[in-house]
Amino acid sequence: MEILQLRSTAAHVWTAAKEFIRLHHRENPEAGDPYDRLAVVWKEIEETGTYRHTPQELVHGARVAWRNSNRCIGRLYWNSLRVRDHRDLTGADDIAAQCAEHLREATNDGRVRPTITVFAPDTPDRPGPVIWNEQLIRYAGYGPEHGMQGDPRNRGFTEGVRRLGWPGGPGTPFDVLPLVVQGCDDKPRWFELPPDAVLEVPIEHPEGDHWRDLGLRWHAVPAISNMCLEIGGVRYSAAPFNGWYMGTEIGARNLGDTDRYNLLPTVARRLGLDTSSDRTLWKDRSLVELNRAVLHSFDRDGVTITDHHTESRRFLTHLDREEQKGRTVGADWSWIVPPISGSATPVFHRTYDTTESSPAYVQSPEAQARAQGTDLV
Ligand code: ARG
Repeated sequence: MEILQLRSTAAHVWTAAKEFIRLHHRENPEAGDPYDRLAVVWKEIEETGTYRHTPQELVHGARVAWRNSNRCIGRLYWNSLRVRDHRDLTGADDIAAQCAEHLREATNDGRVRPTITVFAPDTPDRPGPVIWNEQLIRYAGYGPEHGMQGDPRNRGFTEGVRRLGWPGGPGTPFDVLPLVVQGCDDKPRWFELPPDAVLEVPIEHPEGDHWRDLGLRWHAVPAISNMCLEIGGVRYSAAPFNGWYMGTEIGARNLGDTDRYNLLPTVARRLGLDTSSDRTLWKDRSLVELNRAVLHSFDRDGVTITDHHTESRRFLTHLDREEQKGRTVGADWSWIVPPISGSATPVFHRTYDTTESSPAYVQSPEAQARAQGTDLV
């Protein structure tokens, strides 16, 4: 009956809000009686079409959204996510400055801390701010007219930012892209990241000089910036979050994929491997050495990184812990199993429940288009 009193969008918000507030109070008994809180939320939705989370609700919602990320192998520490509450910020300058500060705090001189910064949510009268970049730190990709340099994944985005007026970086394979932030009621604008916000690790092989001259490097912190945080019917479109890297993300995928840095042929040549036939397994051997180099280099610099064996074990610990609490863990096998040595890790040898739950981090089709630079003037 009560739902009939609300416009249909508000009715959706109320349905999702009820579910979330109940979850929050079930998992945090010290939050008190859910009925008192639900009465306040109902009134706010009736009057404004939305409601404001308490700081505790925001923290728990962001953490549970991580717990519900079926593609993430690193969820054991979901309950220690640090939440930076910047819901008061709607303007591009302030948001860009707080993204840089996020990176400084998350990097923590190499002892990486899982962190999220939450900016203003969408409201019924206006969409919230958005960050166009896929991650806060990404490397530019230059096409044939600029010497085919950098990360091919970010070519569309790089062209888009140039159209916005970014002059381009020095033209190395690892030029850090500027942030592109769109404040409320504003156009997207670009901001160079301050160098002290971006820690990078030069990648060298533990035995010898095979490729020091290539100048390989990667950034310390993976901070996804174009997924929306959805909690109880409220959508935070700008809510960049980070964990720490698992070595294979860099050593197997970013540096190895043929449509990324495509380094396996170069590495094989440097190692003196026979590349005349796939059956010499030169790709496999190069992958292993590249991954050793990534782990070795992060360790050398005291920067947090995990390996796929450790992380697989931790994931199974996470499953056990959650089951003991009476919760099922959703997981996507094709994302959880590491891209090298899958069957040598325990996560390979089982199946998972694929149910999706809320709160969640979700990616909109518009966010994907923005990361391609398609809509940048
Ligand atoms: N795979 C992405 C990258 O290589 C990062 C995704 C998030 N990873 C993480 N460890 N939190 O940049």
